[in-house]
Amino acid sequence: MTHDFVIFAGTATPDLASKIAHELGVELGACICERFPDSEVSVRLLEGVRRKEVFIVQSTSPPVDEHLIELLALADACRRAAAARITAVIPYFGYARADKRNGRREPITASMVADLLQAVGINQVLTLDLHAPQIEGFFRIPVDSLTAVPTLTEALHKRVPPWAVVVSPDAGRVQMATQYAQRLDTSVVVLHKRRESGTETTVTRVVGDVRDRPCLIIDDMISTGGTIAKAIEALLAAGARPEITLAATHGLLVKGALDKLSHEAVQEIFITDTIAASTTDWPKLHVISVAPLIAAAIRRFIADQSISDLF
Ligand code: R5P
Repeated sequence: MTHDFVIFAGTATPDLASKIAHELGVELGACICERFPDSEVSVRLLEGVRRKEVFIVQSTSPPVDEHLIELLALADACRRAAAARITAVIPYFGYARADKRNGRREPITASMVADLLQAVGINQVLTLDLHAPQIEGFFRIPVDSLTAVPTLTEALHKRVPPWAVVVSPDAGRVQMATQYAQRLDTSVVVLHKRRESGTETTVTRVVGDVRDRPCLIIDDMISTGGTIAKAIEALLAAGARPEITLAATHGLLVKGALDKLSHEAVQEIFITDTIAASTTDWPKLHVISVAPLIAAAIRRFIADQSISDLF
């Protein structure tokens, strides 16, 4: 294995990819990602990758299918050009919520995506705060899911008082909430959430005491903002102080999300740059870069070193 490496970027997260390359002291590999007139994806590598270690940085963020196909096409191009090892750096892994059938006649799309990534010759995957850790089991190749919790907590330290509580908006995020709470030296409150549809949720119970406490609501992603909006209502109804901070790794922030989050009790929102910002002119929104974290992992991959201290 040669340790000559190159980093290519798809069109989903070009700024993050540039920052990662900058951290590593290299330029991004030259490639073209564009569309044919009929909208099919067209990619071309403008430099050789024979026997090189290749990293392709591409979140499968909206438009999810286009970004996914671009990633697959880039990987296919690298494999056909004889790359030694291909790592897909997927800061945000789309379709991760489609990880089970819920007893209905549905696909397990996350598993299908895993099959596709492997079919084009991707040798390993690096991602962040994968929605469900068991998605790793859909792969036969190494999958490393780093966490943005330390990066976000560093930014939150001065903003969240020690008497605040960390709120998990549903049972699935308790482990992540615990990581935040340990780092911020405070306690965890859990909300019981019932999902009514893709856009509607209901909070059925607040487990823990929030009376007169500021709250930090955390999540892996904010999409429509519906989960967080319902969490805010439930916490205020349970007597929390109207001093709420939000933190999530993946700020999908689809159309209308910021309206839902524009509650007067919300003081600040912290997200990372795993998804290219859909808005930058919202004063309460802080985007913290995960480029140093991803660059640190890439540095270790290149040196054949363990990345376990990055989790
Ligand atoms: C759900 O299990 C996830 O962790 C998020 O809570 C959810 O997907 C966020 O979506 P939305 O902002 O649309 O409620």
